[in-house]
Amino acid sequence: MEAPQRNLAMDLVRVTEAAALASARWLGKGAKNEGDGAAVDAMRLSFNTLDIDGRIVIGEGEKDEAPMLYNGERIGTGRGAAVDVAVDPVEGTNLLAYGRPNAIAVVGLAPAGTMFNPGPSYYMKKLVVPAAAKGMVDMNAPVAHNLEVTAKALGKKVEDLVVFVLDKPRHKDLITQIRAAGARIQLHTDGDVAGALMAVDPSSNVDMMFGTGGTPEGVLAACAIKALGGEILAQFDPQSEDERKNVLDFGLDLTQILTTDTLVCDDNVFFAATGISGGTFLGGVSYSGTGATTHSLVLRGKTGTIRRITSTHQWDKLMRFSSIKY
Ligand code: FBP
Repeated sequence: MEAPQRNLAMDLVRVTEAAALASARWLGKGAKNEGDGAAVDAMRLSFNTLDIDGRIVIGEGEKDEAPMLYNGERIGTGRGAAVDVAVDPVEGTNLLAYGRPNAIAVVGLAPAGTMFNPGPSYYMKKLVVPAAAKGMVDMNAPVAHNLEVTAKALGKKVEDLVVFVLDKPRHKDLITQIRAAGARIQLHTDGDVAGALMAVDPSSNVDMMFGTGGTPEGVLAACAIKALGGEILAQFDPQSEDERKNVLDFGLDLTQILTTDTLVCDDNVFFAATGISGGTFLGGVSYSGTGATTHSLVLRGKTGTIRRITSTHQWDKLMRFSSIKY
């Protein structure tokens, strides 16, 4: 038995709230770099108040040439636990820029050395299922098989399932196969971290997620799945010859099936996400004139505690000292 320990996720939610509050001002303005930049600046400032000795393993940058919380950057005061950090100040920069649902600010944190470093891998194929179907799906099996076993595990028919798929040309065959098997599909232009969270959340109307998305996003999703339950299976899926070569030169194995535990190999994980644009999963930032309201998901892997936090922020107090002008 042990005394309750500090839940760093309770600190992390202030970081994702700051990023969401700053970036939601850019909703629908067609300016994805400005929206992302606002979130990065707010996130960086908030992080540096935390008593952690953090090293960013999953950062901003390379693929999108976005403003950075760059890989390898040290964050926090340096005084607390040594931790690996995964950030996505705006997961779904286009969702924010075009005012579409499910842009979220996300942070995951795990003991130093336990988070998978994707190196030059930008894309991976992902299969995410809820806890009931954990251990039953197989990345190498036909799509129809994975739909059948997931439906069975959930006590549903394949026709009842809703599968989250990113709406990308690379998924043409996948979509054809899902339709042929009889399952239903939610197509989203972006945002497969939210997709993965919805797939493992029994209260959402998404049952599973399939398809290729960002490798960093896969690690972030794994941080949450450690607490929420369920499973993510993944396989590197380079989308260009350059990426393929770099992945192989880095020593990654294109045939390897990564699991939740490969992506984060410790249960002592902390995760926070705050809605930016709003959606069925997490409400977005609403500004009232005198302040704002945010909606967040706060998770701790070790205990499996799931918190949903609604916060009211009051400008008359906050703006007196905040260095971020929300
Ligand atoms: P950003 O937040 O970097 O814009 O990523 C959004 C996203 O849709 C992710 O959710 C997804 O994993 C990835 O991009 C897919 O990449 P691409 O749009 O290049 O296919």
